[in-house]
Amino acid sequence: MLHIRDLTAGYGAAPVLQGVNLHVDRGETVALLGPNGAGKSTLMAALTGTIRNRSGEVSFENHNLVFEASHAIVSRGVALVPEGRLVFPPFSVEDNLRLGAVRLKGRLQERYDFVYGLFPRLAERRRQAAGTLSGGEQQMLAIGRALMSNPRLLLLDEPFLGLAPKVVAEIRAALEKLRQTGLTLLMVEQKLDIALGFASRAYVLIKGRVALEEGTASLARRPDLRDLYFSLATAHNA
Ligand SMILES: Nc1ncnc2c1ncn2[C@@H]1O[C@H](COP(=O)(O)OP(=O)(O)OP(=O)(O)O)[C@@H](O)[C@H]1O
Ligand SMILES: [Mg+2]
Repeated sequence: MLHIRDLTAGYGAAPVLQGVNLHVDRGETVALLGPNGAGKSTLMAALTGTIRNRSGEVSFENHNLVFEASHAIVSRGVALVPEGRLVFPPFSVEDNLRLGAVRLKGRLQERYDFVYGLFPRLAERRRQAAGTLSGGEQQMLAIGRALMSNPRLLLLDEPFLGLAPKVVAEIRAALEKLRQTGLTLLMVEQKLDIALGFASRAYVLIKGRVALEEGTASLARRPDLRDLYFSLATAHNA
């Protein structure tokens, strides 16, 4: 579904991503691991067109997205739940959701029903200002907003960061439901246990390059897994 070949991207003269190769098959859940500053969010930005300074190939369902603008990428069926949620605090829950539907071709009410069915807490709070929601509810809203465009590939940048275990479990259950509908997920996650328990394959990004790609089942069986991960992270910080 998604094939990234030799992707180089960044903000200024020196690129952050340096020749990244990665693929995601339809229906898969893939985790993107790596230490702070490795370029995980930069990869999300390059995939969704918020960084225009990029080269290489990003083929999504056989369309090269590298030269496309953000709105066109959303129209193609790719949506991002950004790092830090980025909801609009003064807007109501429902208005935040509607912002995610700007490129929607189908019926708006169907999307609201879908999101509210997935997160009943958002339905109860549909008129409430997003800024007054709890952190977990804001994360649900950020996921809901991305779902409003009816994507086939959902990118999630650290969706569990800073949330209590109970809320993590709730959001995880919602993501499980989503993938049962056939949605494909590419998720940035720093915690090994969550990534291994949730995804079928994982990539480790170090200094803007893919340092490791492996199925999570075989990764989890590696006796040296934690040492391996920490040695990669240490190499990153050196
Ligand atoms: N808007 C920007 N302008 C310039 N440099 C940036 C910008 N955003 C990120 N960078 C730099 O790009 C590099 C990669 O950052 P990025 O946010 O992609 O890392 P990350 O892997 O998502 O880290 P984290 O785990 O902390 O979220 C860092 O060196 C960072 O300082
Ligand atoms: Mg990041």
